[in-house]
Amino acid sequence: MKPTSVTVDPRFRPKRRNWPLIWAYIIECGGSTKSTSATSMAVTAALRGYPGVVFDLDSNASSTTVLGYDEDALKGKKTAIDLLYGKATLDEVALPARYRIGDGDDPEEDFAPIPNLRVVPSSPAMAGADLAIAEDADRNDWFGEILRSYEGDDTVFYLDFPASYGKMPYSVLRMLDEDDSVIPSIKADPKDVKLVKKLTDELERIRDKNRGRRSVPGRPTLNHLLLTGAPTATHNEAAARRATAAAEAMYGSVLLPYIRYSADAKKLYEDECPLPILLPNSVPSVDYRKVMTHLGFVDLAD
Ligand SMILES: Nc1ncnc2c1ncn2[C@@H]1O[C@H](COP(=O)(O)OP(=O)(O)OP(=O)(O)O)[C@@H](O)[C@H]1O
Ligand SMILES: [Mg+2]
Repeated sequence: MKPTSVTVDPRFRPKRRNWPLIWAYIIECGGSTKSTSATSMAVTAALRGYPGVVFDLDSNASSTTVLGYDEDALKGKKTAIDLLYGKATLDEVALPARYRIGDGDDPEEDFAPIPNLRVVPSSPAMAGADLAIAEDADRNDWFGEILRSYEGDDTVFYLDFPASYGKMPYSVLRMLDEDDSVIPSIKADPKDVKLVKKLTDELERIRDKNRGRRSVPGRPTLNHLLLTGAPTATHNEAAARRATAAAEAMYGSVLLPYIRYSADAKKLYEDECPLPILLPNSVPSVDYRKVMTHLGFVDLAD
């Protein structure tokens, strides 16, 4: 059980609400680095002493895998779809994040815990989330119910979305306000930069639809943009340079410090280990630490 008497730094409880900051990693662009950024930022903050929860809302279960749970490990466990159906509470579904250190499936021998971090695991059933909401409009309030009944000391809810703007993303995004952040994480690729416009249009649509409502905040805002795979001395393609220049021209005011390219970043899925732990000295890990410092998540041990 989480203690309810702890006082949390007010910057993690905007407008004195009872739930943490919400950071939504979303953009309708497959393979754009949403999951890598969500998990890397969450792990970086957790290792610095800031507790959080990663909600894996994508049926591909990338974040779930990287935070230590494959399909076998999830047998008999509740997952994100049970939250959406209102069949379980957050504390029943969220699992302690961990990473693989051995080849077997022994929770003690083959995994090490990641302190301060929990993961709401996904499952293939999350592919039916949009339909579940379409069939029962009451389900639209599932995420709001989780927030209103929350009583812990987490600092951020990191939400990893599928690459789509369906009914499930809508049900979640309408619970954000301007203190929260929609953070598209995109590759330094002209195609990815172009797709940010569709996201800002979608956010505008959500704000319009919820304007004047009292029961939901309804103000998801693109406060930050993450550009990953940014050019380095050894990885320096013209297209990546063009994409970086375009992102600066269009979204300069919300651009976070760049995450540089590393071919090693691909290893995190096969190794079932988040980047900051798997390769703590790789350039993207260094850059994710810079980003979290920039966002005010300084190392509490320093
Ligand atoms: N800094 C980086 N440099 C190079 N490659 C990277 C970097 N960060 C992530 N990648 C790679 O990019 C690929 C896509 O990343 P990721 O799975 O995070 O994207 P995604 O947006 O979550 O994808 P999906 O839409 O499929 O869920 C992965 O192979 C990942 O290892
Ligand atoms: Mg993903």
